[in-house]
Amino acid sequence: MNKTLTSHGGDIYTEGLLKGKELIDYSSNINLLGVPNSFYEGIKEATNLINHYPDIQYRTTKEAIIKYHKISIDNDNIILGNGAAEVLDLAISTLRSICIIAPSFSEYEISAKKYGLEIKYSYLNNDMTYSYEDILDKLKSCDGIIIGNPNNPNGCNIDKDRFKKILNYCEVNEKKIIVDEAFVEFSGDKAYSFIDEVINYKSLILIRAITKYFALPGIRLGWAISSDKEILNKLREKQLPWNINTFAAVSLKYLLEDREYIEKSLNVNMVEREFLINELRKISLFNRVFESNSNFLLCKLNNVVEQELFEFALNSGILIRKCGNYRGLDNSFIRLAVKSRENNEVLLDMLRHYENIRRI
Ligand SMILES: Cc1ncc(COP(=O)(O)O)c(C=O)c1O
Repeated sequence: MNKTLTSHGGDIYTEGLLKGKELIDYSSNINLLGVPNSFYEGIKEATNLINHYPDIQYRTTKEAIIKYHKISIDNDNIILGNGAAEVLDLAISTLRSICIIAPSFSEYEISAKKYGLEIKYSYLNNDMTYSYEDILDKLKSCDGIIIGNPNNPNGCNIDKDRFKKILNYCEVNEKKIIVDEAFVEFSGDKAYSFIDEVINYKSLILIRAITKYFALPGIRLGWAISSDKEILNKLREKQLPWNINTFAAVSLKYLLEDREYIEKSLNVNMVEREFLINELRKISLFNRVFESNSNFLLCKLNNVVEQELFEFALNSGILIRKCGNYRGLDNSFIRLAVKSRENNEVLLDMLRHYENIRRI
């Protein structure tokens, strides 16, 4: 099967729904609070509009984005995509060579290969932090870089102070920095984001989406922001008109104004992430559970192969993310989402059970 179709988490279909089973999905990283009620208010408004084409310029949708980010840009500084994946792909398509972090979200490499880019890899350090010196070095022979903030699969943010040199280097040398902030809200502080730097650095293309934080992977809405309108025009030229449906376009403003959901999500995720990290670290199946600033945890297994644990978990109704197909990782890594306390207890019970079986 095509690599794009097999290299992601969130496949609750193959071993689950298509076989009549409901799985607890620890393989995709979606806000544990689930879809906010405000979304359904948006859907009500959208329902009255679906007998019309969406606004081809998506003006109210873009205005909601500008208000949410609290920056002084205009609508032409934004393009909307069918999820972050579409705008990431389009941004990558404008380059001839790229630095990709390893491990990172597999679509970066898939897009780069699709457009025939020359690729240089910058591997994370052993503690899964970025190697800033190596990134700068790799960028000398690349047109640009794509970098997660935070990165998937480990959840580390970019250290903005250390990244400054790279940012300035790219700005002076007209290279592009595509920062994927699909998970950035989980980091808990706006200061982690590069949103305020967008105005001052033409080299930045910032990618955001409602997918993760607003628990709406099925709605498919993401956006790219840049002060370089020329590059955004190039991306726009490759898009189809009305690429965003009315449900997504209209509901966005309801989501982005839902302060109660936004704040509650942050607190709940932080509490559950700490709980899960602490409990996982007590289980001998794990050699290391890496620090994360997001809603997922990368875990290195201790003498356990991912496939064995994957199958055991599946038999217990839990889907986990094997990480052997990430460049830079091997089959001794798994990734777990941060979910509700109730689900986390089920996950931990399953893991402790497996730990006991292996001891016998
Ligand atoms: C780091 C990262 N960026 C982007 C995406 C794609 O997001 P979307 O579903 O909005 O296309 C994912 C999906 O898993 C991801 O992990």
